[in-house]
Amino acid sequence: MTRRCDRRGREVAVLLDDFGHRLPARPTVEQPPRERGPFAQPVPRRGPRGRGLGRAATPAPLTVWRMTSEQTPVVWPLIATSGLPPTGAQMGIDLLSGGAFYCDPIGWVTDDDIPVTNPNVVVFGKPGRGKSATVKALALRMLGFGYRTLVLGDTKDEYEPLCRALGVEPFVLGSGLPARINPLAFGPLGSGWERLDEAEARRRGAILFARWLVLLRGLVGSQSVPFGPVEETAVGEALRLLTGHRTGASRLTEVTIPRLWRALDEPPDELVAGCRYADRRHFLDATRTLRDALGSLVKGSLAGLFDDHTTIAVDWRAPIQSLSLSRLEPLGDSAVGIALTCLNSWGQAMREIADPGDLRIVIRDETWRQMRLGVEAVRSLDANLRLSRRDADVQILLAHKPSDMLTAGDAPSQAVAIARDLLHLCDVKVLHGQDQAVGDELGAMLGLAPTAQRVVTGWAVAGQGRALWLVGDRAFKVQTVLTAPELRLTFTNEALTAGGPA
Ligand SMILES: Nc1ncnc2c1ncn2[C@@H]1O[C@H](COP(=O)(O)OP(=O)(O)OP(=O)(O)O)[C@@H](O)[C@H]1O
Ligand SMILES: [Mg+2]
Repeated sequence: MTRRCDRRGREVAVLLDDFGHRLPARPTVEQPPRERGPFAQPVPRRGPRGRGLGRAATPAPLTVWRMTSEQTPVVWPLIATSGLPPTGAQMGIDLLSGGAFYCDPIGWVTDDDIPVTNPNVVVFGKPGRGKSATVKALALRMLGFGYRTLVLGDTKDEYEPLCRALGVEPFVLGSGLPARINPLAFGPLGSGWERLDEAEARRRGAILFARWLVLLRGLVGSQSVPFGPVEETAVGEALRLLTGHRTGASRLTEVTIPRLWRALDEPPDELVAGCRYADRRHFLDATRTLRDALGSLVKGSLAGLFDDHTTIAVDWRAPIQSLSLSRLEPLGDSAVGIALTCLNSWGQAMREIADPGDLRIVIRDETWRQMRLGVEAVRSLDANLRLSRRDADVQILLAHKPSDMLTAGDAPSQAVAIARDLLHLCDVKVLHGQDQAVGDELGAMLGLAPTAQRVVTGWAVAGQGRALWLVGDRAFKVQTVLTAPELRLTFTNEALTAGGPA
């Protein structure tokens, strides 16, 4: 790279040459004889004289640089990268190129020219900078491309207007309300069970048992109780017995968490023998912590929420499904976290009947609440992110800052290590405005160039919906543009303005 300058000292080209990096030399081209220009009169350097003709009072300070296109992004990291194809949802303006910015995570994965290998999206930003609004606009605009949306736990009830606008009534969970969800329900896999042939019934049974085990591991783990092979055998055997799977019943019986707990607390002889214990006393001693953890879920603050058969009729094929959880807020973070874990299992059930090409956007707003439950909760999220390619899901995680995701345990713990890796399972990162300290944290974790970091801590802070979009290793400075109806649907400042958008 050479800069035409008269200052003394070694030039950049000479310095780089010391490191074996050759910069293109200025070509010595014979100047061809000057042709007569097409314009009769050349335009003066400062523009034509005269009112309204755009004459500059002082000429623009131009400097001349010469470098290869490979070197350009090192000196100007945010110079518009080659654009993305105009497919998917049109989100707003790409301010570096001046063109429209389109978001199409699954399209990006299938396009070899775009350095993205999974369709997961993580959105960070200070409160009120427009994270949720951007995601709501994406969900809404992707509807036209056949995507359905699942909001896995709406802790502020802010997705309700969007659901109603799409003709779907969101479910509301809370103490004393009629809606109940049985996390151990069959979900859509249970439909038409009696008509299934033996092989299909066995296949579905295996999927169900695997999902229940993941869920129970998360729920028991949230009480800081280990869930090892002993617990797994006891729970698996009890479930097989209670559902009738053990006896080869053609129609399985649905189990609830209190029934499971009772079976473990007063184990029938088949259960004791099935788990290979010498006697009941032996079984009860070995499963004490497991039974206590399940018992506290049944009798604790979540009593009446997840401990009976599901009372809501879920339309698994609606354009959007959401569960409002704000009524759980008074019960504390762990109650919300446990509810999110149960909903996660619910969300997986939804995938179990998905046909190929059934595309979903799964929104996990306030992800950190679930992560706080510990390593099993983090693991289950990790599994979902890894399967997103297979399931054609766009998993979207929203959080204020990366360290929120790392509250999963003590600093060096396994949960923190998995949580840190989760960021690498999201190839698309949307970085809304952040304070300087968080900007530094983001910069270090994601390897942001200082220019990119300044976009996040400066430009993006100054407006709602402004964000640096990292699509693989390409950066885009994007302003999300909301239409008037979308502004109404995404308005979350009621408490501050006591009304709707101005
Ligand atoms: N691109 C945009 N243009 C105009 N207004 C916007 C835009 N994005 C968001 N807003 C408005 O800003 C407000 C806050 O947005 P939003 O609720 O999405 O923030 P958030 O980052 O999710 O906040 P929190 O962290 O508290 O959940 C909303 O009222 C929304 O309508
Ligand atoms: Mg939000």
